[in-house]
Amino acid sequence: MRSWGGKRGQVKDGQGLEVANADAHAIEALDFLREEWLAFGKRFDRFMTAADKEERCALLPVMAANLVLSMNSHEGRALGARYLERARKMPDAGAREQAWIAATDAWLAGDGDKSLAIHEKIVAEWPADLLAGKLGQLHAFNLGDAKALLRIGTRLLGENGDNHYVWGMHAFGLEECNRIDEAEAHARKAIAMQRQDPWAHHALAHCLEARGRLVEGVAFLQSVSDTWEACNSFMYTHNWWHLALFLIDLDRLDEALTLFDTRVWGVWKEFSEDQINAISLLARLELRDVDVGGRWADVASYLEQRLHDHFVPFLDLQYLYALARAGRHSAVTEMLASLEDRAERAKPFEREAWADCAVPAAHGLAAHARGDHAEAARLLGQAMPHLQSIGGSIAQRALFGAIHLDALIRSGWNDAAVKILQADERERPGVPATKRALAGLYRKLGRAEQALTADYQADQLAHQYRTVRGVAA
Ligand SMILES: [Fe+2]
Repeated sequence: MRSWGGKRGQVKDGQGLEVANADAHAIEALDFLREEWLAFGKRFDRFMTAADKEERCALLPVMAANLVLSMNSHEGRALGARYLERARKMPDAGAREQAWIAATDAWLAGDGDKSLAIHEKIVAEWPADLLAGKLGQLHAFNLGDAKALLRIGTRLLGENGDNHYVWGMHAFGLEECNRIDEAEAHARKAIAMQRQDPWAHHALAHCLEARGRLVEGVAFLQSVSDTWEACNSFMYTHNWWHLALFLIDLDRLDEALTLFDTRVWGVWKEFSEDQINAISLLARLELRDVDVGGRWADVASYLEQRLHDHFVPFLDLQYLYALARAGRHSAVTEMLASLEDRAERAKPFEREAWADCAVPAAHGLAAHARGDHAEAARLLGQAMPHLQSIGGSIAQRALFGAIHLDALIRSGWNDAAVKILQADERERPGVPATKRALAGLYRKLGRAEQALTADYQADQLAHQYRTVRGVAA
């Protein structure tokens, strides 16, 4: 597919896409980046070195800008602006390069909706541009736009059916649109094509999580975990985080805590994605009454510089909860004020996320962290109808639902809590903790028979899981 001579001009990359002003080195760097990004690898330094040296092919600094912007940090933003400036100065960029520049510019300006729209256009016109799809899906993810996530996957798959990464990308969009059976089939297709596809593993983990197929979830993720050693810290810690979620639901709390210490926290403590995996896991362990010791203090020590980040509300809310659980009161106060200010400055497309959800949710999370459960239940209840708008995946956002539920139970909103738990039980009938929580509430409500049944079912499930584990061991 590749074609280039010694000269620069319109040459093609490994996907058959024309690249303006590229020579063999530029094409090699772009092909390398595409594979590394889709594989969630960690050898991006190699690409950045090539991008730093490049003087004519605009796509290299544009891609470098997108890479550093995906770090969700002020440093990444400043660096991204410099790379974009360099790209703009390069001569004779073609239509695709111009579109990439516009999408990156919109990201820098905080217009994620515009970036998403441009990436969708790029994918529509050049469906072989897999990184345009990857970035488009990232923006859709950050905006909580599951339909866009799926649209992009569908468009890519129509033209790239021989590429296993694309099957995994489409699977995740299907899962986030609650088309679980199709998502599972797509993820398994990707893995059948190539065992080492961590994003396809991840999509399948989401499917099994959505259905509460806990034993299968653990077995599957363990069976492919050897391949994650080549992954960057986000993908590595996030797939282990998924495994920890299954362990928590199986009542294997000690093992989940061990995964926190050995896999989820400690790879790159300064990185936002590592941080939220750690925060979400600690919070979920605490909701199951696990004493997490001094771990909040350690995580929170990396968050003090994030009080005014506001890149994605979904991230901010988790930083805030960690700071609150670590007892960093002045930081929490400062971040709450900053979030309110951010909500006031929100553009129309992001008003629901910041004003309707993030602000009341942040106050609710702070209330929960200090033990004011009635206030937490009230404020989180206000935020919950808008939860999807803050970004993140269904499984990640479930953390906020779990904290809301905990606040409802602890503040005596028994009927509301029962409704949520019954819905959970219908979707994921194999979780003993759900049945135990239901039994406790039924008892409070004087529904003794239902309490006995729920307790019995919880014991049966727990016994079944112990037996499976005994056989596996
Ligand atoms: Fe996930």
